Amino acid sequence: MKHLTIQNTAIPALGLGTYQARGQTAVNIVRQALELGYRHIDTAQFYANEEEVGRGIREAAVGREEVFLVTKVWPSNLDKKRFMPSVEESLRKLQSSYVDLLLIHWPHTSLPLESYLGELAKAQEQGKARFIGVSNFNISQLKRALGMGLPIITNQVEFHPLLDQSRLYHWMLDHDIALTAYSPLAQGRAADNPVLRAIGEQYGKSAAQATLRWMLQLGQVMAIPKTANPERLKENLDVFDFELSEEDMARIDELGHRGGRQVSAFHGADWD
Ligand SMILES: NC(=O)c1ccc[n+]([C@@H]2O[C@H](COP(=O)([O-])OP(=O)(O)OC[C@H]3O[C@@H](n4cnc5c(N)ncnc54)[C@H](OP(=O)(O)O)[C@@H]3O)[C@@H](O)[C@H]2O)c1
Repeated sequence: MKHLTIQNTAIPALGLGTYQARGQTAVNIVRQALELGYRHIDTAQFYANEEEVGRGIREAAVGREEVFLVTKVWPSNLDKKRFMPSVEESLRKLQSSYVDLLLIHWPHTSLPLESYLGELAKAQEQGKARFIGVSNFNISQLKRALGMGLPIITNQVEFHPLLDQSRLYHWMLDHDIALTAYSPLAQGRAADNPVLRAIGEQYGKSAAQATLRWMLQLGQVMAIPKTANPERLKENLDVFDFELSEEDMARIDELGHRGGRQVSAFHGADWD
């Protein structure tokens, strides 16, 4: 597994997304992923599968300390009263005394950002999270977080070849914040794209593999594709033995457009 080094920290560059994986399917897919070599697992309070993710980790023959485990605090838990108890509940469900990365899932539309980012920092101080970050933040919200002096290690946002995120990506690159790509396969659409398929074929790879390789090769990007299919689990991990040419990287860069989002903003959160 290749790692991305950001702020002097090495993080497994490819992780497993677990949104909509529930029950025994979630337990099995997490266990299988770890057995295949995945070392980065993404969950969230909202996914209602933290217990199953925790069980999958314990069932795999991999030590907890080898896994980079991520969870996210949902907007309804961002007020001061609920924040820490909700993190404690996540840890209980995950059966771990800490997560590797704790994220704010979405910026809150009415609570001041500084109040819940303060709670996020406290969770880190208390050892509940090794690292902290955010998700679905725009540039001005990231500026406010950095203005508080917080060591924001990543912003997890929608990122794939069919969406132009170049402005946000370059800003984050300049500010030493990793981009964690959610919906990296455009929720499966990238796998059917003829250009991505043709590029993949040149390397004996699928369109999904060309897609993941493109973002990992850009630099400072991690990807968390989701699958509940053991074959695709293997396919999505098998992206470290080839390199896209500069020309193919540029061809994929050109596919993105501003209207390519698959995920709509939660409660009208602001993308710009
Ligand atoms: N922070 C946020 O607000 C946020 C928002 C959305 C997602 N996320 C995170 O990002 C993760 C990934 O995003 P996502 O689930 O929206 O979309 P995604 O990973 O882009 O796509 C998942 C879809 O693609 C299919 N798929 C997976 N691998 C494939 C392959 N090799 N070839 C063809 N199809 C393939 C999956 O089907 P099968 O399962 O049948 O393989 C599933 O339908 C989530 O699980 C979650 O952890 C975070």
